[in-house]
Amino acid sequence: MRSAPLLLVLCACVTVRAPSTERVEVTPARLARGAYLATAVTECVGCHSPRDWSFSLAPVRAGTEGSGGEASDARMKFPGSVVPSNITGDGETGVGNASDGELRRAMQEGIGLDGRVMAWDRYAQMTTEDLGAIYEYLRSLPPLPGPPAK
Ligand code: HEC
Repeated sequence: MRSAPLLLVLCACVTVRAPSTERVEVTPARLARGAYLATAVTECVGCHSPRDWSFSLAPVRAGTEGSGGEASDARMKFPGSVVPSNITGDGETGVGNASDGELRRAMQEGIGLDGRVMAWDRYAQMTTEDLGAIYEYLRSLPPLPGPPAK
């Protein structure tokens, strides 16, 4: 009987809150900032895209930006296997149907991410404005099929 209150407290702690319904407005300035942040600062596109290994430094394959990256697995002596998912605007396998709130929850709280390869905790301190700009940019990418989020 004494453990009942403790159990209630534990249950309350592991409850996952619903994603917010807030959405940033799409503007050309936000798209430009999102492109800059996602490609030059946070490396979203660098990880979440196929690479062209026939060039020095294996750049992202032009025209495939955000469609899913290369697996980290035993070939790289990585324990297990994680694949950066499709983050283009594709509604089926990408983030086209994900709300700002769901994407922000993944980035700020790691909910939905099952591995530690994507260091979401480094992005958790980003502002709602910057994360919103990144999502608007990702949704604007040509919708390509690719590995879906798990
Ligand atoms: C170091 C590589 C890397 C970087 C950089 C990276 N990701 Fe990821 N991301 C991953 C991997 C790997 C997964 C697959 C989930 C997992 O196991 O962590 C993933 C999963 C996701 C998912 C799916 C979440 C879900 O619900 O499963 C989204 C959305 C996402 N990333 C967005 C982003 C955004 C936005 C950025 C930039 C701010 C970013 N990623 C930067 C590697 C990366």
